[in-house]
Amino acid sequence: MPTTFSYGRMPRPDAVAFLQFSDSPVSIAAEPEVVEAMRRPEWDGEAGQVVEAFPANSPRVFVLGLGKQEAFNNDVAHKAFAALGRRLTKAKLASVHIDSRGLDAAPMAGRACGEVLGLLSWTQAEYKGTGTTAKAVVETQVCGLQEGFDRGLEAGFAIARSANYARTLANTPPNIATPHWMSDQAIKLGAEHGLEVTVLTGDQLADEKLTGLIHVGRASDNKPCLIRVAYTPQESTGPAVVLLGKTITFDTGGLSLKDRNGMRGMKGDKAGGCAVLGAMHAMATVVKPSFPVVGLLVAAENSVGSDALRPDDVITFRDGTTVEVTNTDAEGRLVLADGLCWAQDKEAPACIVNIATLTGGIYVALGGVRGGLFANDDSVARQLDTAGEATGERLWRMPLDKEYRDMMKSEVADLVNSNLKPAGAAACAAGFLAAFVKPGTRWAHIDMAGMGRTDKARGGIDAGPTGYGVRLLAEFVKEWKS
Ligand code: BES
Ligand code: MN
Ligand code: ZN
Repeated sequence: MPTTFSYGRMPRPDAVAFLQFSDSPVSIAAEPEVVEAMRRPEWDGEAGQVVEAFPANSPRVFVLGLGKQEAFNNDVAHKAFAALGRRLTKAKLASVHIDSRGLDAAPMAGRACGEVLGLLSWTQAEYKGTGTTAKAVVETQVCGLQEGFDRGLEAGFAIARSANYARTLANTPPNIATPHWMSDQAIKLGAEHGLEVTVLTGDQLADEKLTGLIHVGRASDNKPCLIRVAYTPQESTGPAVVLLGKTITFDTGGLSLKDRNGMRGMKGDKAGGCAVLGAMHAMATVVKPSFPVVGLLVAAENSVGSDALRPDDVITFRDGTTVEVTNTDAEGRLVLADGLCWAQDKEAPACIVNIATLTGGIYVALGGVRGGLFANDDSVARQLDTAGEATGERLWRMPLDKEYRDMMKSEVADLVNSNLKPAGAAACAAGFLAAFVKPGTRWAHIDMAGMGRTDKARGGIDAGPTGYGVRLLAEFVKEWKS
């Protein structure tokens, strides 16, 4: 993608984009060329439709269809602006002004526009080889002509930066993106944006009894760590919201080894942690809540070796829970258990939201369209669901019945980490996590397996890493009510 969009105002634009519903009178006080363009048979104002006009003595014009006025919402806006963005990309412009006159939902539309154009601008050139040709990058500055739209636009660009940051992290290959590298990224983020970062490694993990990290990570030379990133406002009110992310930098399955096809793409098993870092970026740059937010990344590489965690091993967690390891490929729940224990012991959280590429089962259930939401608290669940609908990073609530937890009972320990039945895998994993949540702790678990990458373009996101969870978590915290 040779074009990057950014927010910026140039006095003489190369182009003006007009927004037009299919069922409202033409709101453009326009040159005859524009009116003529909208009389062409190809124009019907469907969301995402673009026609162009080249008026004499004024900048080139794009008219973007927004569909029916009544049906216009965030999803439609995303779709429409993605189409406009892809068209503008080809035009190689230095500057575009967006004219949203007559649009009631201008702040929402502006935000969607900024988000989409920002997301469309994502690239990761570092590792590009000869397989792709590097083209000169065109930088297109975009601004809105009406205040509401313009402010939304700027906010949209800002949140897209957080998502793009997470996409870059998630996409970084596992020989580079080790747990230690992840901690370096967090430290860098903290230094740039005033977040406090602490990293626990080696003996410190043992001192704190962070059992899952120690055992999942023990066969790899790339040693595990707990990364804590804290946003603390000047005048801090109330307890912290804790965001906890599974950060398995590569998941071989361990001794319960994945097969060749199952293992490919497992650099993406850190996407939950990347989403949390992206959300922390958003906390510092755009959301700026009045209460503290703590991001916890449980980072390890699930590898093989003579020292690897074995099926049949029994390990004891910080809170005393014993776990019989029946499948070393169910490693995410082991490291998340550490994070849950830590958060409850150390952070006095208002609520804990963990996000993880946890089970193939959730992908089977939801097909990569929505993340799975498990929660022990209806208000937290509702707030997450609302944030999902508002951002398009949608969720679907899944069950946390006691029966699933019962399916995780062990004959030699408190729990097994995998019950070897193919049924209800995502809910069983959630049941396992629930066993580490104390009564009174408000908790939600987002299973985002299958959401971290897309193999085809969707809205403003091209094939590749999606940054799923960043906008969702940022919106959730922005609107959080205890
Ligand atoms: N990281 C995987 C889950 C996953 C699978 C994410 C596919 C993205 C795409 C996780 O650690 C895992 O291996 N889960 C197992 C659990 C099973 C052993 C109980 C699974 O889903 O098969
Ligand atoms: Mn696994
Ligand atoms: Zn995994």
